[in-house]
Parts: sequence; C-alpha cells; structure tokens
Amino acid sequence: MKAARIHAYGDATEIRIEDAPLPALNDDDVLIRVVATSVNPVDWKIRKGYLRSFIPYDMPLIMGWDVSGVVEKTGPAVTRFKPGDAVYSRPDIRRNGAYAEYIAVRESEIAFKPATISHVEAASLPLVSITAWESLFTTANLTAGQRVLIHAGAGGVGSIAIQLAKAKGAHVSATASASKAGLVKSLGADEVIDYRAQDFSTVARDMDVVFDTVGGEVQEKSWSVLKPGGMLVSITDRPSEDRAKAEGKRAGFVFIDPNAAILTELAAMVDAGQVRPLIGAEYGLDAAAKAQEASETGRATGKIVIYVGQP
Ligand SMILES: NC(=O)c1ccc[n+]([C@@H]2O[C@H](COP(=O)([O-])OP(=O)(O)OC[C@H]3O[C@@H](n4cnc5c(N)ncnc54)[C@H](OP(=O)(O)O)[C@@H]3O)[C@@H](O)[C@H]2O)c1
Repeated sequence: MKAARIHAYGDATEIRIEDAPLPALNDDDVLIRVVATSVNPVDWKIRKGYLRSFIPYDMPLIMGWDVSGVVEKTGPAVTRFKPGDAVYSRPDIRRNGAYAEYIAVRESEIAFKPATISHVEAASLPLVSITAWESLFTTANLTAGQRVLIHAGAGGVGSIAIQLAKAKGAHVSATASASKAGLVKSLGADEVIDYRAQDFSTVARDMDVVFDTVGGEVQEKSWSVLKPGGMLVSITDRPSEDRAKAEGKRAGFVFIDPNAAILTELAAMVDAGQVRPLIGAEYGLDAAAKAQEASETGRATGKIVIYVGQP
C-alpha cells in the first residue's frame, strides 16, 4: 500500500511517500481503508522525536492519528463492524497511523462516522474532539451557565471546544487574532479577544474554566482570570498544583487516549447540527510533508486534512 513514512526523527524532509506492507491484523483489529486523515501538532512533535522517551517508536513509522474511512476486513473477535461500514477513529498513538491507504485499528477505538458529513470532514474531528470533550467535561465539569475562556479559538482544538461549550450552554470567550474573530463568533463564541492587540488577562475575568491550548506565558496569565475555585485545564504544559492551591483555584491536565464512546456521542451532535467541522486546508497524501509544515507554523485555521483515496 502507499504510505507516508519516516525512517528517522527529523524535519519534514524525512517524510517519504513509498510502498509499505499492509498492516497485519490482531484478532480485535479492524482494517480500515483510509479515505482521509488529518494533521495534529502531535504528528510533527513525534516526527521531531519530542515524544521518543515517552513512546519508543520502531522505524519506519506511519504518522497520522485521525482517520475516516471504510471497513475493509475484520479480525475474528470483532463484533460491531463489518466490511463496508463507514467509520472514524482516533487510533492508538503507539501504533502506525493513517497517512496510508490502510490502517489497523482496535475495534474498541472505532465509532460509526457521522452520516451527514464527508470522510474529509469526519477525519478532522476525532483527536481534537476527544481532547476538547475530556478537558471541558470530564476534567473541568463545565456546566450550563458557567463562563469559559478558550485559548486559540480558531485552532483545531479551540474551534471544536467553542462549539461543545456552547452546546452545553456555557458563556464562551475565546482568544484569536483579529482576522479570525468573525469565524470564531460564527462557531458560537460570545466574546472574541484579539490576543495580539490586547492582553487577554486585562479583558477576561470571573471565569469558571480556562482551557489552555497554548501553554507558557498564556498559561501563567490565565490564573488571574479565574474566579475563586475555578479550574485551569491544559493540554500543553501541566499547570502547577502548588499555584492552584495558593490561589484557591484548581489545576487539570489532559493527555488523551482513544475514546469511541465520545466519538459516538459526537457523531450524534454533528448529525443534529450542533457541531460542524472546520477545515482550513486540504492536501493529498503525496503532500504530507507540506501539510505538516503548515501545521508547524502554529497559524492553522481549524484543521488541516489529508485526502488519501476514494470512499
Ligand atoms: N494533551 C493532549 O492530549 C493534546 C491533544 C490535542 C492537542 N494538544 C496540543 O494542544 C496544542 C493546540 O493544538 P491544536 O491542534 O489546536 O493546534 P493548532 O490548530 O495548530 O493551533 C493553531 C491556532 O493557534 C492560534 N494561536 C497561536 N498562538 C496563540 C496565542 N498565543 N493565543 C491564542 N491563539 C493562538 C493560532 O491563531 P492565530 O493564527 O490567530 O495566531 C491558530 O489558529 C498543541 O500544542 C497540541 O500539541 C494536546
């Protein structure tokens, strides 16, 4: 099969488009014919070797841990899916990814794709949606009427987080650069803070939850906009428990695993019109290196999707 693989850690020139063996199936695996995958910052972070002490990858490695496609074949222990089913997944990051014509994914990590959107749109959703869901709901317990500040509202995670928080009935503030303010409002944000023109910490206040998707100074400044007892939940740098305690606030950190239950609930929300994918750019598999370079700029709008093959 055709795949985009790396044979060593390094820059995007390490990505080779080449022939790779079809994935071998374990008993509980589903072989998915990939229609589309999407780029997440973790892809190029892994390519650069940032996660090597945490996950010891064998080379060559296929990146891309979002997939939407069609079931080609199932292992003997698989019960929920059959050939021809349209599915989507955020598969196990410890195995080969989806920048390829086929991927083997555990049945437990797969959900039926939302029926009302294309595979390209569906491929943009799993990783960022599980991340936003676990951060806002599982960790921060965001409820209707609460106030949440979402950093990088125009990014992959932020664009879905805004929609999930709105669907929950929260009051949503989001940071974005001025040119993206209209887009962020259209996703449901009640207030957009132009983080380049203004220091968000002088504008936002009394937040029940801050969702930190940026880290560093942004996280440092986020403590001051929380109300007493509020929670700072991050997916970048682990917030200090000592600082949280000293300020009478709470700290949360999320690093996601596959979660098919969330994807099943999300599919229902998408089909009900409550959540819509936001795709900023689409590339072919041959341009996987360019797609990762676009993500690496840190300026992406919504998701960068890689189209692999016909549904
Ligand atoms: N822990 C986990 O499980 C997990 C899961 C998913 C993602 N992550 C991490 O979360 C981070 C965000 O991921 P992502 O997919 O959302 O990234 P992304 O799509 O690449 O984010 C790009 C967006 O960030 C905005 N941005 C950059 N700096 C900003 C700032 N200082 N304030 C506000 N907005 C800013 C940019 O807006 P402008 O162009 O307007 O500047 C752009 O729209 C990454 O570091 C990723 O690795 C972690």
